[in-house]
Amino acid sequence: MFHVDLTPHADREAYAFSLLDDEEKARWHRFPVPAPRRRFALCRAALRANLAERLACSNDRLSFGYGEYGKPHALVDGRRTPAGFNVSHCGRHGLIVFASNDRIGIDVAERNPRRDLDGIGSMVYGPTERRLLALAAGSRKVHLFFRLWSMKEALIKALGSGFSLNPSRFEVPAAMLEGARSSEFRFPHAPSNCWHLIDLGEHRFAAAFAYRIPDPDGA
Ligand SMILES: CC(C)(COP(=O)(O)OP(=O)(O)OC[C@H]1O[C@@H](n2cnc3c(N)ncnc32)[C@H](O)[C@@H]1OP(=O)(O)O)[C@@H](O)C(=O)NCCC(=O)NCCS
Repeated sequence: MFHVDLTPHADREAYAFSLLDDEEKARWHRFPVPAPRRRFALCRAALRANLAERLACSNDRLSFGYGEYGKPHALVDGRRTPAGFNVSHCGRHGLIVFASNDRIGIDVAERNPRRDLDGIGSMVYGPTERRLLALAAGSRKVHLFFRLWSMKEALIKALGSGFSLNPSRFEVPAAMLEGARSSEFRFPHAPSNCWHLIDLGEHRFAAAFAYRIPDPDGA
């Protein structure tokens, strides 16, 4: 797992852009404003450099395919590789995680106190989560909102569903609501699969990582 510095930097951004393929460059041009463009290019270039090394291939042999809900996977010479990774970017911070399969999800979120936290929380959190949020005030509310957000997003990204799965339909594990930094987790709609959820939050951002615990038979 590593951190990508996403602060504006013309030379780094130009170099990152040069590593992208035509499809990625076209996507870069479609972003209407500079900030998401920068986040995409810097993270994708860091991802490419790392994957090229792991997969022992040159950057130009590497491309990406996408699952039903947009989760990317790596291709070498157009063929899918087993390399697992996940990317998240927000504000000045990118996080990239690698594993031997793609049942992993990561999320980073800068804590932005200007949002309508209770309003958004009422749409994306479950009953216990909403209750806790209502009880918190000031910076504790901001901290809790983004901690919950990053944990839920890491889980739906590990699953690969993105927000096609309504995040209010599951709650983070009770132990983590009480402050634990990691715990096992099961989605209510698919309880046979067990996931491990880790809170990676620190003073600069809220963040979380989730991965699926292999079944005893290795599946
Ligand atoms: C996945 C999703 C939760 C990401 O949320 P976000 O807050 O925008 O962004 P983050 O910075 O945390 O993550 C973005 C990265 O996650 C990865 N990603 C995209 N879709 C993903 C998915 N379904 N699962 C896991 N990871 C995904 C990508 O690497 C992306 O970065 P990149 O495009 O620069 O490579 C959100 O985009 C989503 O819900 N997508 C699904 C959309 C959908 O359901 N489409 C179906 C067709 S209608």
